[in-house]
Amino acid sequence: MNILVVGRGGREHSIVMKLAESDKADKIYAAPGNGGIAEIAECADINEMDMDGLIAFARKKSVDLTIVGPENPLLSGIVNRFREAGLLVFAPTREAALLEGSKQFAKEFMQKYQIPTAAYKSFTNAADAKGYIEEQDAPIVVKADGLAAGKGVIVAETKEEAFQAVDDMLVNKAFSEAGATIVIEECLVGKEFSLMAFVHENDVYPMVTARDHKRAFDRDQGPNTGGMGAFAPATDISVETLEFSMQNILRKTADGMMKEGRPFTGILYAGLMMTEAGPKVIEFNVRFGDPETQVVLPLLENDLVQVFVDVLAGKDPDLNWADDSCLGIVLASKGYPAAYEKGVRLPAIQKSGNGYIIHSGTKQTEHGLVSDGGRVLLAGARGASLKQAAKDAYQCLKPFSNLDAFYYREDIGKE
Ligand code: AMP
Ligand code: GLY
Repeated sequence: MNILVVGRGGREHSIVMKLAESDKADKIYAAPGNGGIAEIAECADINEMDMDGLIAFARKKSVDLTIVGPENPLLSGIVNRFREAGLLVFAPTREAALLEGSKQFAKEFMQKYQIPTAAYKSFTNAADAKGYIEEQDAPIVVKADGLAAGKGVIVAETKEEAFQAVDDMLVNKAFSEAGATIVIEECLVGKEFSLMAFVHENDVYPMVTARDHKRAFDRDQGPNTGGMGAFAPATDISVETLEFSMQNILRKTADGMMKEGRPFTGILYAGLMMTEAGPKVIEFNVRFGDPETQVVLPLLENDLVQVFVDVLAGKDPDLNWADDSCLGIVLASKGYPAAYEKGVRLPAIQKSGNGYIIHSGTKQTEHGLVSDGGRVLLAGARGASLKQAAKDAYQCLKPFSNLDAFYYREDIGKE
């Protein structure tokens, strides 16, 4: 089969790496890809949002299956467009992608189908929103309804901070249309974990759990980022919690989406909080998580191409997960998630032990490999234990430890 992966980050590099292990993958293309992907697949310089360009490319190259990494093209209907063009995609339609694209939709949906989540109310008017906050206890969470690149969530420690978030979103339009509606919700307390699944209509096949580290600095300090590292599985999550999450969250979601006339095909990602009252949904994503994918897919022992084919055909892919652990640390550009420099030359990267390197924001130039994003790469490793994986993964970052242009967290998986 010829396969096209849409996207340019670490998640897409990880997907391409796994696909490349398959005998069933003849030719793998990525659009637009990155410096690491270019080493194992053919990259086409087509933007993720250029639907006409992507469709023309898929036709020209006789692409049999397309995988979409990022959420933006999904919300813009890339799957609807590909299907109209008679092209097979493993990803949700625009209608199903609303589970990630609108927090208000997701909350109403969860309420309707009794899927455990934080209590909430949504608002378009600042005075009403503040009146509601006045009646609640702090901390309290204020969220922009639409896509805001991970920046649209404020966990306010005080009511004043919550009022400020309301003003930023509803009055100052900090997220423009994405913040024209806001969701205010109860602040949940507990350990977070991510649970992803391959989904096709009513069929749900879960992956191993993972834990992301969203804050920029050690001990969960500093601003929220796209993710500074992750490990899998999240060993403190019990079998009972997993079973509960599978039945009461993932399955109910897949079934509910069928009933809503928005059948879901693709990767369903549940960001969960293990509260005293059991696991509750913090957010849904409708795609592979980044950086979770980079530590989950290396543990998959199946042929990933076959998994996609089976799930689309309504057949159990019989997923097999290694007993090992995987851990990955993100190397970021200094300044990220705020302003940072691009085009900084990277030192030679050496893998150690069971280590692997996944590129997130890199570019091949005539001067060699240079940085091309806030998150530059992820150093990962698979090991018999989390500790072993951490040792090998951190070893891969040694060449970067004295470089001013980059930084990384020293405490991934050390909690
Ligand atoms: P999100 O972008 O929705 O993943 O939210 C970013 C982060 O905000 C999450 O990973 C949580 O740490 C935190 N968060 C979001 N919603 C809540 C909530 N209701 N209670 C506590 N923390 C939350
Ligand atoms: N790691 C969280 C996300 O992919 O949105």
